[in-house]
Formats: sequence, structure tokens, C-alpha cells
Amino acid sequence: MSVDVTGISGRVTTIRIHRLGRLAGLKEGDWDQRCDFLIVVDRGGATYGASFVELKKHLTDEEKPLEQLRHSLPLLEHLCSARMQDLIGRFLAPPPGVVLDVGGGPGRYGCWLAAEGYQVHLVDPVPKLVEQARAASAAQPDCPLASAAVGDARSLPHGPDSADAVLLMGPLYHLPEREQRLAALREAHRALKPGGILVAKAVNRFASLLDGICRGFVDDLAFVDIIRRDLADGRHRGVPGTTRYFTTAYFHRPDQLAAEICESGFHQEELFTVQGPAQFAPDLDSRMADPARRAQLLDLIRQVERESTLLGAASHIACIAEKPTQDT
Ligand SMILES: C[S@@+](CC[C@H](N)C(=O)[O-])C[C@H]1O[C@@H](n2cnc3c(N)ncnc32)[C@H](O)[C@@H]1O
Repeated sequence: MSVDVTGISGRVTTIRIHRLGRLAGLKEGDWDQRCDFLIVVDRGGATYGASFVELKKHLTDEEKPLEQLRHSLPLLEHLCSARMQDLIGRFLAPPPGVVLDVGGGPGRYGCWLAAEGYQVHLVDPVPKLVEQARAASAAQPDCPLASAAVGDARSLPHGPDSADAVLLMGPLYHLPEREQRLAALREAHRALKPGGILVAKAVNRFASLLDGICRGFVDDLAFVDIIRRDLADGRHRGVPGTTRYFTTAYFHRPDQLAAEICESGFHQEELFTVQGPAQFAPDLDSRMADPARRAQLLDLIRQVERESTLLGAASHIACIAEKPTQDT
């Protein structure tokens, strides 16, 4: 495997991992399941699949640049993170304030918000990811994370009414049972101050269908089975015994995400498409790399971000909700 890293000066634009063919073609045995990693697959000149998967290559010397890339994740500007930053930037009260990044992984959003002036506490159940978050935090000594700890969204170490905002951008799709997700949401509610903001991200029920059709995965009958099961009950399962495709997860219908959040005590919940109609743009990488074209794209998505008829048409949905105050 050769790795050609381009555009990593200041803002990462493109990471190409050649000869992987497509995400489905990752060779089994070359990978283990130790950490989140960003993989962008280059197929026919277009770059696809900027997504976290729980895979890590055993590195040889010539592949060490991949390891360095992991530490560059806070700089990455692909569509999903650009959109989430856009939403978070518009809905969080200005700094300073306390933010809990629950399921914060290697600290991509947590470190960004710390650099913006928030007091950020990151929690993640995977010790290796917490280590990475600490390393990313140490790399910005003027504005580090306030803390990074191993923990679970369903049992947070933070006191009640202590946070101005909670990010739940991961746990809701890694908790397959409804009761588990409600437990995570109730914990977020408990930790928030009245009037505090929840930013939740979920994988859309139709994500594998969209990916399968738009990226050609439907040529693999095992993937078609996955799609059928996802559509039936939202319980996404990878191919048993392999690391092909996305890990086991839960895929929400948009209305179901809003209902779970409402049931956990929040109000004023609003749903947003994350990638919107830009998700499958053929020239997405070059468009995101050009500041003017990127700004235009983000502005166009913003125009339709709350359009209910588009909520099911991209991989991720976000929900922003408030913990009610005594008056509301
Ligand atoms: C796809 S990653 C997202 C990381 C980060 N929030 C981001 O958006 O860059 C999902 C994260 O959720 C974490 N996670 C899974 N189950 C969790 C749980 N029960 N409580 C808290 N975090 C969890 C995983 O360890 C992983 O770091």
C-alpha cells in the first residue's frame, strides 16, 4: 500500500490511500479494531468515504505517514466536520462555557472547542482514544482540554447542572438498544445546566442504502443483506467475522432521533441534515479545498438543513435541543 498525503499544510484537503480500491476491499488480516481512523479512498480520481472506521493498519515504516495523519485529525476539513462545526458554532453560547464532549474520541471537536475558549471535558470508553485526545490536547498547550477521561455516556463523572453544552456525537450510534440510548441522553440532560444545549449526531437509517447505491457497494451481495437489515430495524451489523464495512451500529430514522431526545426531557429539539445534498457531489474534495467554493457549498446546505423532506437523504442527522429552564 502506498500513501500519498497531499494538501496537509494548515488545512488538510485530501488524503489518498491508493490501491485499496474501495472501502469494501480493505484486505482482512491487514487491519485490527483498535482505534478510530480517517480513511479516504481514492477511486477513479474522486475521493470518497471520509469516515471514521474502527480499523487500524499494522504500520510498516513506509506507512508511518498514516500515523502522523491521526494526529492531524483536528485540522481535517471534510464535509461532515465542517458542517458539525458550522452547527455547533451557531448554536452554542459564545465562550467561555463548560462543554462535555461525550464519545469525543481522539478529540477532534473537543480540541477545536478548547481552542475557541471553552472549558472542554472529554469522555470516551476507549483508553487508546483518550490517550490520543490527551496528546492532541498537549499539542495546543495554550488552550488544552480541561480533562480527558475514560468513561461511558450512560454514567458520566460530571455533576448535575454543570455543563453549558453536551456533545453526543458517536454514542447514539454505538448504543444499539433504545434503553441504552435513553440512558445516555438522560445523563446528558442531568449534566446540563437548565437552558444548556445538547448537540447529538446520529447515523441515518438510510445511510447504507445511499452508500450502497452511490458507491457501488450493492455489487457485493453481503452488503445488500446489510442494507435490508438496516432498513428493517436500524440495527446495522458488519459482515460477521470480518472488518469489512462499518462496525456494528444503530441507524436512526430522523423522527425517531427527535422522539428519543424529547422523551429524555429535552425540548425545542430541531433536526438538521449534516451532509445534505452535497454528500455525493463527485468533486467534493476539490470543492471543499477551495475556500470560495466551500463557503458556497456550506451556505447552500444551510439553506435546506432543516428541510424535513431531505433529512433521510444523507448519512448523518444532527439534533440540537435544550434542557428546559424552570420557566419553560
Ligand atoms: C465515530 S467516533 C466519533 C468521535 C468524535 N465524537 C468525533 O465526532 O470525531 C464515535 C465515538 O463514540 C465512542 N463511544 C462508543 N460508545 C460509547 C459510549 N457508550 N459512551 C461514550 N462514548 C462511546 C467511541 O469510542 C468513539 O470514540
